[in-house]
Amino acid sequence: MPPSTSVQDFQDIVTSSDRILALCGAGLSAASGLPTFRGAGGLWRNHDATALATPDAFEDDPALVWLFYAWRRHLSLTVEPNAGHYALAELAKKKENFLCLSQNVDGLSPRAGHPEDKLRLLHGSLFDIKCFDECGYIEKNNHKDPLCPALEPASSVNSSAAGSGGSHKLPLLDPKNPVPKIDVKKDLPHCPQCKHGLLQVDAWVRRGPIALMLVIGTGAQVYPAAGYVGRAKRMGARVAVINPDPESAEGLDDRDFFFQSDAAEILPQLFSKALA
Ligand code: APR
Repeated sequence: MPPSTSVQDFQDIVTSSDRILALCGAGLSAASGLPTFRGAGGLWRNHDATALATPDAFEDDPALVWLFYAWRRHLSLTVEPNAGHYALAELAKKKENFLCLSQNVDGLSPRAGHPEDKLRLLHGSLFDIKCFDECGYIEKNNHKDPLCPALEPASSVNSSAAGSGGSHKLPLLDPKNPVPKIDVKKDLPHCPQCKHGLLQVDAWVRRGPIALMLVIGTGAQVYPAAGYVGRAKRMGARVAVINPDPESAEGLDDRDFFFQSDAAEILPQLFSKALA
C-alpha cells in the first residue's frame, strides 16, 4: 500500500494531533535560496565537506574555514525565511506539544519567529560564535556581517553565486578570485575568554625569573601552549620533561632534566622531598 497523499486527511490529523515531532533539513531552506548539502548544486556536491566543515579543516586552515562560514553567514543573512519556516513557526505557537528538531544552522526558523522552546538546533547556528578550544565561551546571536574586516571578502560574494539547482563552485575556492592572505593570529577573531586567560598567564610569566619549567605528558607542539616552554627558558628556567617518548627530550641542554617515564609513576617521587 503506498503512503496517502490526501492533504484533507492529513489536515485532519494535524488538527487532532497533540504531540508532534519534526526533523528539518536543508531542503526547508532551499526555497529561500540557500544551497542544500547533497542535492543538485549542494554545498558538498562540489566540495569535500571534510575540507571545510570539520575541526581538522579548521586547524589546517583557519582562514579558509572562517571565510567559508562567514560566506554562509552572509548568504543566510541575504535571504528570507520562506512560507515553510513560517508555517512551522505558527504550528509551534499553536501546538503545546510540538517540537521541531532542525539540522539547519541558517537562522531562518528563529527569524520566522519559531518559539525557541519548540526548536532544537541540532547542529547549532552560524550566528552563535563558540570557542574552538571549548573553554565554554559562546557569543549567541552575533549577526555582524562581516564579522571582522579580514572576513569582508566573504561578504562581497553575492548570493547568486550560490544559486541552488545548477552546480556552483564555492566562490571562495574559485582559483579565479583567490582570497587575500589573512594573518590568522592578527586578523581573525580569537576567543576573548581564552585570550583573557592567556593574558593572565602572560602577566604571571612576566612577573620575574622562572626557576623551573615542568613539561609533563605533552609533546609541546600545539601553540600557544607550547610557546610557554621557550618563554620560561628565556626567563631563566631549567626545563624538566616528563615523558616516556625519548623524542620529547629534543632541544634540552645540560641544565635541563629528562625523565623518560610515566608521569603518574615518577611525579610523586620527583616531588617527595619538596613535599616532605
Ligand atoms: N523542500 C523539501 N525538501 C527539499 C527541497 C525543498 N524545496 N529541496 C531539497 N530538498 C531535500 C532534498 O531532496 C534532500 O533530501 O532536502 C534534502 C537535503 O538533504 P541534504 O542536502 O543532505 O541536507 P540535510 O539533510 O539537511 O543534511 C544534514 O549534513 O552536512 C551536514 O550539518 C550538515 O545539517 C547538515 C546535515
